[in-house]
Amino acid sequence: MASTPSYWDYLKLDQLLDLQSGLDETEDGLLPDELHFIIVHQVYELWFKLVIRSIRLARDELAKPTVAEEVIPRVAHHLRRVSRILSLCVDQFDVMETLTPQDFLAFRDKLVPSSGFQSFQMREMEILLGLDESQRILYGKVDPLEHIREMGRETNAGRLAWKRIVQARSELSVLEALNEWLYRTPIQGSQPDDANDEQVVTDFLEAYLDAADKSHDAGLERLVAALGEEKRETLQVRVDATRTHARRFLFAEDIDEGERPRIRRIRAAVLFIESYRELPLLAWPRLLLDLIVQMEQQLLLFRNRHARMVERIIGRRPGTGGSEGVGYLDKTLSYRVFVDLWAIRTALLPKSALPPLENPKLYGFAG
Ligand code: HEM
Repeated sequence: MASTPSYWDYLKLDQLLDLQSGLDETEDGLLPDELHFIIVHQVYELWFKLVIRSIRLARDELAKPTVAEEVIPRVAHHLRRVSRILSLCVDQFDVMETLTPQDFLAFRDKLVPSSGFQSFQMREMEILLGLDESQRILYGKVDPLEHIREMGRETNAGRLAWKRIVQARSELSVLEALNEWLYRTPIQGSQPDDANDEQVVTDFLEAYLDAADKSHDAGLERLVAALGEEKRETLQVRVDATRTHARRFLFAEDIDEGERPRIRRIRAAVLFIESYRELPLLAWPRLLLDLIVQMEQQLLLFRNRHARMVERIIGRRPGTGGSEGVGYLDKTLSYRVFVDLWAIRTALLPKSALPPLENPKLYGFAG
């Protein structure tokens, strides 16, 4: 007869609560703060496990060849969970910080050369989201992923770490799935397969940039009126730089010619969704883009909060993993996956300045 389900069996509490002895067989030899240190890290890794699962679920929904309207709320559901967990992870450093610098020094040496740097789940998250490997900050002179491969050769857990990284690298990333989906967005009612789609996209971008020019001119006059005529030249330079940057970005002039039309359409789609977000068909896509930015913002806050916590506990000394410590961690604040979603914000216009929308009915706007 099957046994009655119990709370402790279902959660495997006997096993779970027997995993906090560090490198020893039992917890007897642990310092009180060492138990704290282990539990906080394990809790993080459990959250990372759920984050990775949610990222994969969101990616799978988004990667379908046609994403029905009702699918977007499901993608949003998974990413909202990721974002919320990451936000909790930011706050959780408050608990880590109850460890004093001196109490940490009591057992720090025994950790060398292990480090959160070897958190392969963190790397899986970055890879599955789509972090461009060229952005990675070198660990000394070594690529951070190679470091995990090297360190992992000796043990089963280490080999598993590397295997999981290789697996994540072989998968489609959220960024790739997102771009595929964005590419198919109808712009001014035109689809990518339509005969004159490229022209429609170009016309939309030109109309947008024209409207932006007028908005910038008016903005400049307001600034000059407020700050004085003598500031005009300096302000003009800044406004012109914004204009040039917006054109270069929207027409994807920073991208190789082969990829340019595709990236131009993707960026135009983001602009279109953000601009006409009140249309019923665009409301969920716009919410999804916002959730992705929010998720990445949480990841950035996580990196920053971790670095500040580290600075508070170990100051500017090198890490147990051998990096320069806080200096290295601060450099990783430059990591961005969804670069275009951030960049588009510089180009956005107020609703009153937008060029007229064509084919409103296609977007569910009856009026
Ligand atoms: C006393 C507490 C902690 C200290 C002093 C500390 C210190 C450091 C240092 C110095 C590094 C840079 C690599 C190295 O040289 O070791 C690092 C990396 C890292 N730590 Fe921590 N850490 C602490 C707690 C945590 C916690 C609770 C987490 C949660 C998972 C964590 C996650 C990470 C991750 C993911 C990295 C890699 C960052 C990257 O390369 O982007 N650390 N840590």
